[in-house]
Parts: sequence; structure tokens; C-alpha cells
Amino acid sequence: MQLSDKKAKLSVSDGGPEIEFPIYKGSVGPDVIDIRKLYGGTGMFTYDPGFLSTASCESSITYIDGDKGELLYRGYPIEQLAVKCDFLDVCYLILNGDLPDAAQKLDFDQQVTRHTMVNEQLHFFLRGFRRDAHPMAVLTGLVGALSAFYHDSTDISNPYHRHVSAIRLIAKMPTLVAMAYKYSQGQPFIYPQNNLSYTGNFVRMMFATPCEEYKLNPVVEKALDRIFILHADHEQNASTSTVRLCGSSGTNPFAAIAAGVACLWGPAHGGANEACLQMLEELQANGGVAKVGEFMEQVKDKNSGVRLMGFGHRVYKNYDPRAKLMQETCKEVLSSLGLENDPLFKLAMELERIALEDPYFVERKLYPNVDFYSGIVQRAIGIPTSLFTAIFALARTVGWIAQWNEMLSDPDYKIGRPRQLYSGSVSRDVKR
Ligand code: ACO
Repeated sequence: MQLSDKKAKLSVSDGGPEIEFPIYKGSVGPDVIDIRKLYGGTGMFTYDPGFLSTASCESSITYIDGDKGELLYRGYPIEQLAVKCDFLDVCYLILNGDLPDAAQKLDFDQQVTRHTMVNEQLHFFLRGFRRDAHPMAVLTGLVGALSAFYHDSTDISNPYHRHVSAIRLIAKMPTLVAMAYKYSQGQPFIYPQNNLSYTGNFVRMMFATPCEEYKLNPVVEKALDRIFILHADHEQNASTSTVRLCGSSGTNPFAAIAAGVACLWGPAHGGANEACLQMLEELQANGGVAKVGEFMEQVKDKNSGVRLMGFGHRVYKNYDPRAKLMQETCKEVLSSLGLENDPLFKLAMELERIALEDPYFVERKLYPNVDFYSGIVQRAIGIPTSLFTAIFALARTVGWIAQWNEMLSDPDYKIGRPRQLYSGSVSRDVKR
């Protein structure tokens, strides 16, 4: 942390002393006021529900400039990573701080590839679920259960254990997501195949059957790989903060990542792609493009409780750079699969057009986020809507692990323990 020359001063209007706080500079982005001594000096806490003005940690993994619409992983713009790298390059980068050279890449790919199988006993664990269970419910359980199967890598003070856990989680997530899907379909699990790419292997585990050779479509493989890259990390979002908070107690990485999966499930976060597609499908069933105007009136009416899913973002207040890349991929996939006239894509374009012109959205700086188009891509590929968030979890796993690792290596690391403004009853007697 680099100390700034500036200092922040706080004085409370009750005549108490003025207190000075140090300010730290980031390499880019807002400085932070270090208020750790606030309680000791004033007996008061800060109040910031939703963390609107609070930096919860120091991090050097991902940087977002919401006003510029910029997203950097370890300093590299997402636009360059999305076209010049594959997902495992990006995993290596996020975990290690730099892109791999050829030898490092070969070694990393091999390590991941050789950990893609899961303990056979996990199949029986999975079989305990109902076949119609939501994939995120299944995934939360399966990821948490990994700690029972891979207990030999759960010593968090041992860097080798942390490395093995990271590789295991990145490698096994596609296998678990594909198993959850196959189970819901009543189809046999497909084992990983080591001569395929990370993403190619996932596509095969999802869609192959033992009855015939599976032919991989490179456009589909590339599109999913891009979805993975775009979702790999995103600074201190809700699920990442959940992983950090959960992991701050010293729990094992599988338990901490399972907490991240559970958080991601919510419709305001990773569940938005599923909610967005459901919204488009409902709108299509109720009149399609002709009814977009009416629907938008509902969205703008606060009492309707209707939100335009896939729009808006806590941090991006200009545009989400991932949404632009996803729109490109969406066009590529639809044209390669002969779905250029897909009615949902047309509907999405029309919603976007209206929203970008409407003062309600313009004034509130609401733009499409990555999920606005990722659902259409996944649906075209044949991924069921209920699996979208599980795919997001698969991709975000590397970010969660890197952030968890960074937290454990931080000398200032402490168990996370927020305080509160208590407004309940003061102490009273039980009258019985
Ligand atoms: N549709 C309609 N109105 C919206 C929307 C939307 N999607 N998003 C925000 N608004 C309005 C709010 O009603 C509010 O209006 P007001 O100022 O008149 O009260 C204003 O815009 C600000 O919205 P907040 O909810 O305060 O913004 P916040 O930063 O808390 O929320 C969030 C961000 C949760 C993403 C929100 O925009 C939303 O619910 N979007 C839809 C869900 C979604 O797509 N989530 C995906 C996020 S990206 C990701 O996780 C990968």
C-alpha cells in the first residue's frame, strides 16, 4: 500500500477532537481513507450498507473503471484477453499475475487436464438429489462436498495445498456442471477426455452420449470459452466478497467456494442471465416485439416490481465492456448455427434500442450488462436456462480462488467481522 501525502480529517459536531486518517493510493482508481482507528478514536462505526463507499480489501487482480467501461485482469484489457487468449491463459494470469510463456502454459494445461475426473463416489452423492433439482442447488452441494473427498489439500497455511486445491477446483467444475446436467436429463455421465481443450472437453461432457462419436463445433467451443473469459473475475462483487468473508474464518477452499456459488445464484447477481432469458421468453410468448413498448412502461413503473433484467450494474455506469464482446459472440454463434432470425435475439436488440434512447435508462446510466446477451448465446448452443448460472460459477471459480489466495497472503488479513447500527429494543426484563 502506498501512503498518500494527503490526510483525511474528521470532526464530530459535539466539540470532540479532530481525528486524522491516513490515505492510501492505488495504482489507478480512487484512493482510500484508512478508517481502522475510527472506532478507537471516536467510539463510532461507519455506516455503509451495500458497501457503496467501502473498499473491503487491497487487491491487485482485477480493476474496473465503471465510468470508462474498462475491465482489466492483472492490467490487461478484457477486449485483448478475449481475442488473444484462451480461458486457461486467463486462469493462469489471474492466479499468477502474468500470462504464461509456452512452457508454463503447457505445464498448467496439463495440470488442469489431469485433475478433471472426480472421485467416483461423487456420482453416488449426486444421485441423492432429485432429478428436477435446480443445478445451482446441486452445484452448491457438490462443491461443498469436495472437501470431504479431497481433504488432503485443505491445509490453508500450506501453499502447495492451496495450489492443488486451486487446480482441482478449476479442473473439476466443468465435470461437476456437466454431471449435474446429465443427471437432470437421465443420461449417463460422460468422462473427461484429455486430448480436448478445457472448454471443448466441457462441451463434450455436456452433449455427448456413449452411443456415438461426438463432433465438436469450434464456433460453440470458442463462444463458451469467451463466456468463461468474460466471467472469470470481477473485483469485489457479491459472490467474491462472500468467498473472502467465508474464507476469512480459515475454512477450507472448497467450503469457501461453495459459499460463492450459493451467493452467485441470486437474481441480482449470477442468476440474472437466467432471469433475463425467462423475461425474453415471457415477452415473446405475450406478443414479442409489438409489446416491447408496453413492457418498458411496466419496467419504469416502480410499483410494478418489474426490472429489465440484464440491464444496470452497480459499478458500470457507462457501458459493460463484456456486453459488447458478448453481443459480437452472439451474432457469430447465431449465424454459424443458422439462427440469424432468432426472435429472442431480435427482441433483445429492440429492448436495448429502446432502453438506450429512453430518458429513464439514460438518466440512471443503465446499460446492458454481460448477461443480456450471454443467455441468448447459451440457449442457441443448447444449454438449458436453468444451467446458465452454473456455467457462470464454473467460469468465476478461478477468480474466487485467486481472491481467496490473495486474502490469505495479505499480512493485514483478519477474520471479516462487520459491525452494525443497532436499533432494536434496549435491555429489558422477561416478565413471566
Ligand atoms: N430495470 C429498471 N430499473 C432499474 C434497473 C433495471 N434493470 N436497474 C436499476 N434500476 C433503477 C432503480 O430502480 C433505481 O431507480 P431510482 O433511482 O429511481 O430509485 C436506479 O436505477 C438505481 O438502481 P439501484 O438498484 O439502486 O442500483 P444498484 O447498483 O443497487 O443495482 C443491479 C445494480 C442490482 C445490477 C440492478 O441494476 C439490477 O437489479 N439489474 C437487473 C439484474 C441484473 O441484470 N443483474 C446482473 C448484474 S451483472 C452480474 O452480476 C454479472
